[in-house]
Amino acid sequence: MRILSGIQPSGALHIGNYFGMMLPAIELQERGEALYFIANYHSMTSLFDAEQRRKNSMDVALDFLACGLDPKKAIFWKQSDVPEVTELAWLLTTLTPMGLLERCHSYKDKLAHGISPNHGLFAYPVLMAADILIFDSNIVPVGRDQKQHVEVTRDIAIKFNQQYGDTFVIPEPQIREEVAAVPGLDGQKMSKSYGNTIEIFGEEKPTRKKVMSIVMDSRTPQEPKPDAEKNIVVQLLKHVAPPEVARDIEERLRAGGLGYGDLKKNLFEYYWNYFAPMRVRRAELASNLDYVQQVLREGADRAGAVARQVLTRAKCAAGLD
Ligand code: ADP
Ligand code: TRP
Repeated sequence: MRILSGIQPSGALHIGNYFGMMLPAIELQERGEALYFIANYHSMTSLFDAEQRRKNSMDVALDFLACGLDPKKAIFWKQSDVPEVTELAWLLTTLTPMGLLERCHSYKDKLAHGISPNHGLFAYPVLMAADILIFDSNIVPVGRDQKQHVEVTRDIAIKFNQQYGDTFVIPEPQIREEVAAVPGLDGQKMSKSYGNTIEIFGEEKPTRKKVMSIVMDSRTPQEPKPDAEKNIVVQLLKHVAPPEVARDIEERLRAGGLGYGDLKKNLFEYYWNYFAPMRVRRAELASNLDYVQQVLREGADRAGAVARQVLTRAKCAAGLD
């Protein structure tokens, strides 16, 4: 079984990325052949600062390795080091109906947020399809917002297979319902583009301040809160605290007597401790960047070998040999 996923180097990674995509990906590396990459070509659709991209890419590598990606089990590389995906993307683009891309929520959301779109942003799901199909991937672990892109990939693959004969494996998205959309500080989906994130490796003081500033309603500590399960802090706590602790805190909030300040302090402490061992590992990796570069280079070599085989198969099928 081949498992594949990618993450864009478009800013500091947050706990929504961690619980929605990275943790499932890390757990899946035990279960099959895992391939994970830093989607730096994709980041070009919305980030235009070269130095920033370079820095973010290294940060994503450090974050992912610190969080448990094991280069002995998973292949890990930078997307642009396997440039064959861009060639495959061209083959796929000629079979992609405009309407399929026009219907993509993530594209429509960006338009609605006033972004003036470039062609790359529109064609983004085709490059993502190439990423997935060029490795004969079976399973794609992602958060809920990427589900439609995997469905687009399936549509394109089916169309190619019908047109040119059986060429691609049809992939499945894998989405864990309990972490499909981790809420941000303001209750919307946590996202870099909404400025509502708790970073995985944020600094202590500013992150504590962010957590303490989550806006709550005006009920007094003594008042019972029958809707405790809807509270954003409770929802976030469920990810970082042991289940029995999170349940106990939720019950105390429901019964009345637990103030919002104390609730938020609990969230910060459990969050901070949850990522403590990874913070140590990250600092070790940051002082050994040569090792990280070497992991990415070796990953690119291994990924490239697979990609070239599948690209040759696709070119042959399309009469380009
Ligand atoms: P962002 O919305 O912050 O820009 P990305 O689009 O780069 O995040 O997402 C990277 C991965 O993390 C994707 O698989 C995405 O589905 C997942 N992800 C992002 N935000 C969340 C969230 N709030 N909850 C669950 N998964 C998320
Ligand atoms: N579009 C994904 C995101 O923004 C990143 C990505 C690029 C990806 N190519 C992929 C994810 C292939 C899974 C498979 O999060």
